[in-house]
Amino acid sequence: MKRKITVGFLMLSFFAFSQQNTIDQKVNALLKKMTIEEKIGQLNQYTGDNQATGPITINPNKEAEIKQGLIGSMLNVLGTKYTRQYQELAMQSRLKIPLLFAQDVIHGYKTSFPIPLAEAASWDLAAMELSARVAATQAAASGIHWTFAPMVDIGRDPRWGRVMEGAGEDTYLGSRIAAARVKGIQGKLGDVNSVLACVKHFAAYGAAIGGRDYNSVDMSERMLWETYLPPFKSALDAGAATFMNSFNDLNGIPATGNKYLQRDILKGKWNFQGFVVSDWGSIGEMVAHGYVKDNKEAALSAITAGSDMDMESNAYRYNLAQLVKENKVSITLIDDAVRRILRKKFELGLFEDPYKYCNTEREQRELNNPEHRKIAREVAAKSIVLLKNENDLLPIAKSTKKIAFIGPMVKEHKANMGFWAVDLPEVDYNKEIVSQWEGLKNKVGKNAELLYAKGCEIDDNNKEGFAEAVATAMKADVVILSIGERWDMSGEAKSRSNIHLPGVQEELVKAIQATGKPVVVLINAGRPLVFNWTADSVPAILYTWWLGSEAGNAIADVLFGDYNPSAKLPMTFPRDEGQIPIYYNHFNTGRPAPNDTATHYVSAYIDLKNSPKFPFGFGLSYTQFEYSNLKLSQTKMKKNETIELAFQLKNTGKVAGEEVVQLYLRDKVGSVVRPVIELKDFQKIKLNPGETKTIRFSINKEKLSFYGKDLNWIAEPGDFDLMIGSSSTDIRLKTIFELIE
Ligand code: GLC
Repeated sequence: MKRKITVGFLMLSFFAFSQQNTIDQKVNALLKKMTIEEKIGQLNQYTGDNQATGPITINPNKEAEIKQGLIGSMLNVLGTKYTRQYQELAMQSRLKIPLLFAQDVIHGYKTSFPIPLAEAASWDLAAMELSARVAATQAAASGIHWTFAPMVDIGRDPRWGRVMEGAGEDTYLGSRIAAARVKGIQGKLGDVNSVLACVKHFAAYGAAIGGRDYNSVDMSERMLWETYLPPFKSALDAGAATFMNSFNDLNGIPATGNKYLQRDILKGKWNFQGFVVSDWGSIGEMVAHGYVKDNKEAALSAITAGSDMDMESNAYRYNLAQLVKENKVSITLIDDAVRRILRKKFELGLFEDPYKYCNTEREQRELNNPEHRKIAREVAAKSIVLLKNENDLLPIAKSTKKIAFIGPMVKEHKANMGFWAVDLPEVDYNKEIVSQWEGLKNKVGKNAELLYAKGCEIDDNNKEGFAEAVATAMKADVVILSIGERWDMSGEAKSRSNIHLPGVQEELVKAIQATGKPVVVLINAGRPLVFNWTADSVPAILYTWWLGSEAGNAIADVLFGDYNPSAKLPMTFPRDEGQIPIYYNHFNTGRPAPNDTATHYVSAYIDLKNSPKFPFGFGLSYTQFEYSNLKLSQTKMKKNETIELAFQLKNTGKVAGEEVVQLYLRDKVGSVVRPVIELKDFQKIKLNPGETKTIRFSINKEKLSFYGKDLNWIAEPGDFDLMIGSSSTDIRLKTIFELIE
C-alpha cells in the first residue's frame, strides 16, 4: 500500500511539475515573439466605465490600444456582455493575448456578504472561506478573472476608514483569516469558478499616521516584521497569485518604489512567483510623494523595485520603452514582469479559451443561486457581536405583541452593503437587499404589530422626528433602535477624526430610553465607534456592522434567538479618540497602570480611564460557558518539544451556543520587551445546553518565537503565562510554563 502512495505521489508531483514546465515553455515561446511595445502592453492596466475607484484619466483610445496589444488588463468591467466585448478586441491583436479582467470583489459580487471586518468578528474561518468562495464563483461567472482581495492590512486605528476592509488589529487572527480568504477566492486555479486573489496593500498601509488614509507610515523594521508582514506571508503560503502594493511611503520610501518590500522580501526571501500590481495610480503618485521628479523616473523606480503592472498611471505605457533605449531599464526586468503576468493567464486557461469566463447561462445561474443567499444569511448572523444584554432582554420573546423599530437605518436597503460593495447597474437593490424592517416583518409575520419611526437622520442635527419616535416607542412592548454611521463614512478615503455616533442619534437613544421601555440598540458601522452613553445606559446592544444582502433576516434571526450570537470583536473599541492607537497586545512599559483609575506616575491619562470601552476578543452569548480543569502535558519544555494542553468547556446555560475560546501567551522576559498578552490560537466550539467538551491546543516553539532586535526569529528560554480566555480581558484559566532551552 505504502509503495502505491509513493508512486502515486511521485506521479502527481511529476504531472504538476511538467504542467508548470509546459506553461513556462509556452510563456517563453510567446515572449520571444513579442515586440517591446507588446511586452509593455502586458504591464498596463486601465479601468472600464463601471465605478471608477480612483482619480480617473479618460483614455479615448482604450479600444484601439487593446487591438494593438497595448493593454494587458482591465478593472471595473462588469458582466460577461462587456468582458466578452473587450476580449473580442484583444483577439484582434497580433498575438491574441487575452485580457485579464479584475474587480474589487471584497465581500461579495451580486450576493453581498458582511464587510470583511464584520466577518472577521465571526472568527469562523470556514465561514469566511465559504463567503469568499461564493463571491469568487459569482465574479468568475460574470467574466472576472481576478479580484483585488483579500485586504490583509493590520488595522489598529479606527479613525482609518479602511479598517472595514480587513481583519482587525491582531496579527495571528489576521494571518489565519488571510489564508482562509485566499483559499476561498482561488479555490483550484484553472477551475472556471476560480479567480486570482490579490493580497493587499503591501505593506503597512494600515499604520498611516493619524489614521489618515494615504498618510505616511514610519515604524521599526522589527514592528514591520512582527506585526504587519505576517498576514501577507500567510496569504502567500496559501498560494496567493498576486499582490498589490500600497499608496503609503514606508520609512521614507513609497511602497510602489520600495525595493526592500517588493524585491528583497516578497520576490527574494519569500520567493513569490506571481506578480505585483500597483495600486491605482500609485506609480505616478511617487511624483507627488516627492520621491521622483516625473512619470519617467516613476516608471524607472517602480519597475526596478518590482512593481510588475501599472494600474492607471500610464507611467509604463509612455516611458518604459524609452528607458530601455537609454539603457536605464534592462529588458530582462520587463521580461520578468511579463512572464509573471502571462503565466497567470495560462494558468487560468485563458489562452485555450479567452471566453472561458463569459458564459451568460452560468452568469444567470450563479448570480441568482438561492444557496448563496442562504450562506450570506448564515455568515451575517455569525458576524453580529452581542455587546450587552442586561437581564436577558434578548432574545426578544416571539410572543411579543407590539414592537417599535426606530432609527435612520431601519428601512435602508443598499446601505446594508457598506463600502466596497459591487454596484451592478442592472440590479434593483431595493429587492436584492433585505432591509432591517423587512427582516423583522419576515420574522414576526402576523404575530406582532410593528411600529416605525425614523427619529432622525444619521448625521444632521434635526430633532423634529424625536416626538414621533417617542410616541411610537410609548405604544410598544419593546423598542429596537437602529443607528450608526452612514455606509460611506468608512472605506477608502473615509478617515474620521471623530468616531462618535454622528448627528443627534445618541440624543435619540436618550429620548427613547427615557420612555422606560426596554430598548435594544443595533449599531451599524464599518469601524469601532464611540457610544459611551448608549453603552452605559441601554440594556442591550448588537453591533451589526454592514451585513450585506441578508442583513435584515440575519439581524432578525439574532434578535429572536434563532441564531445565538457568537461573534467576538476583532478590534479594540476605544472610549474616546484620545486613546487611539489602542490595541490589546501592547507592551507593559516601566510604569504600567495597575488599574483603570491610577494616574500617579503611571502610563495613563489623567482625564480618561486607561482601559478600552470594549476589548479585543469580546462578545457575549445568550448562553454562558464554564471553563475548567486546565491541564498541561508538562510545565517545562525544550525548543524541540510541544506542550499539549486540555481543558473542559461547558455550556451552563439554557440554549445551544458557540464560544470562541482564545489561547493567549505572555513571554515574561525577552531580549526585546514583549506584549502583555498575545493571541496564539483559537477555536470556535458549538455546545448544546449542559454539554461539555474537552478542548485541546498545542504549544510549540513557533508560538513562542518573535523577531529579536536583529530581526532574528527566536524563542528565548524563560517563563510564559498561558491564558485561556473568552476575550483578551476575560481570562478564565491561567497557568505558567517554562521554556528551558
Ligand atoms: C483603490 C484601492 C485598492 C483597489 C484599487 C482598484 O484605490 O486602494 O484597494 O483595489 O484602487 O479599485
